[in-house]
Amino acid sequence: MKIKYLAATMFLSILAYTGKAQNNKFRPKADLVNLIDKNLKEAAEQYKFLMKHVPADSLPETFEKSGKWKSIPAKNWVSGFYPGTLFYLYQATNDKALYEEGLKRLTVMEPIKYLDSHDIGFMMYCSFGNANNIKPEPSYKDILLTSATTLTKRFNPNVGCTMSWSSKPGEFRVIIDNMMNLELLMWASKTSGDPSFAKMAVSHANTTLKNHFRPDYSSFHLVNYNSGNGQVIRKQTVQGFADESAWARGQGWGLYGFTMMYRETKDPQYLKQATGIANFILNHPNLPTDKVPFWDFNSPGIPNALRDASAGAIYASALIELAGYVDAKEGKKFIAAAETILRSLSSPQFKAAYGDNGGFILKHSVGHLPKGVLIDVPLTYADYYFVEAMLRYKNLGK
Ligand code: GLY
Repeated sequence: MKIKYLAATMFLSILAYTGKAQNNKFRPKADLVNLIDKNLKEAAEQYKFLMKHVPADSLPETFEKSGKWKSIPAKNWVSGFYPGTLFYLYQATNDKALYEEGLKRLTVMEPIKYLDSHDIGFMMYCSFGNANNIKPEPSYKDILLTSATTLTKRFNPNVGCTMSWSSKPGEFRVIIDNMMNLELLMWASKTSGDPSFAKMAVSHANTTLKNHFRPDYSSFHLVNYNSGNGQVIRKQTVQGFADESAWARGQGWGLYGFTMMYRETKDPQYLKQATGIANFILNHPNLPTDKVPFWDFNSPGIPNALRDASAGAIYASALIELAGYVDAKEGKKFIAAAETILRSLSSPQFKAAYGDNGGFILKHSVGHLPKGVLIDVPLTYADYYFVEAMLRYKNLGK
């Protein structure tokens, strides 16, 4: 009886979170669900190991090849993924130690609600947003609304976007990654009843759709606008191999971002965009058969170039959601691709054994190769989207 009750509570709590990305059209495969259950249990143990190595006032970023843990302050863009992953793992396992560690980290995160950063959506929605989905609290709601208001200060109506990177006077730089921060704005409108947050998010998405993409649906990383009249000055791919190349994670941010914006608005142009990006990725001759991409689709050295597990994890999570919005044939293809990615990331090639990898779940991600940082290492966001994708998969059909 107790076990039945526990199972029901765990199911409801998983549904509570991943419910926002529900996909009733497909059923999960039993053997993959078994593998995911095993992964989630192991990931919970792995994070309990990682926990012991994170200083109280900071958040983990990676485990360096030299064997050292690297932590970052709350103002770093990746800060929210660690608490966010802990909350997901708590939902999957009901292990209170994970929840308590997540709550402890929220205290470190709270001052960020005033941080002037385009990444505040990543930081706060993945951390406080997930906490609020488990157990809504008025304080979480206030913190999230304050964070959304902070983000709106970066909006420039001449350009129609929130600014990403600090720019020279007269310029205004926007990266594809910024699509991910729009989820916080959409949530803020729904929660507060104030349409202005959503209006900015839609404007940002429309402007990005118009200027960031090439005819084949691949995207540039960065568009630099004239801040006065919104005209495009330059298009670049700073974190990828070359301006004209398709940086793997950037394609993932676009895929996930436009899928999410379709969920929130039901605007068919976002669905078309997300589907186009998905097909660009899945039909690309340089996508390996295990569907975990090389760090850039046009990287030199393929097939021996580095893989980016973080991009694979983002693709899997987004494809599971997107499959619920397209026709059955296309949806089946997206689910099959997500299944391949989940199985690949579950293999010893990418998934670390207990106690290895500094306690991070996935190996082999690439942060910023051109800058020479975070190359072929574990990264918190790879873990976050892998766990999210597994929960979304388990939740198929519910
Ligand atoms: N948002 C920065 C990155 O994807 O590396």
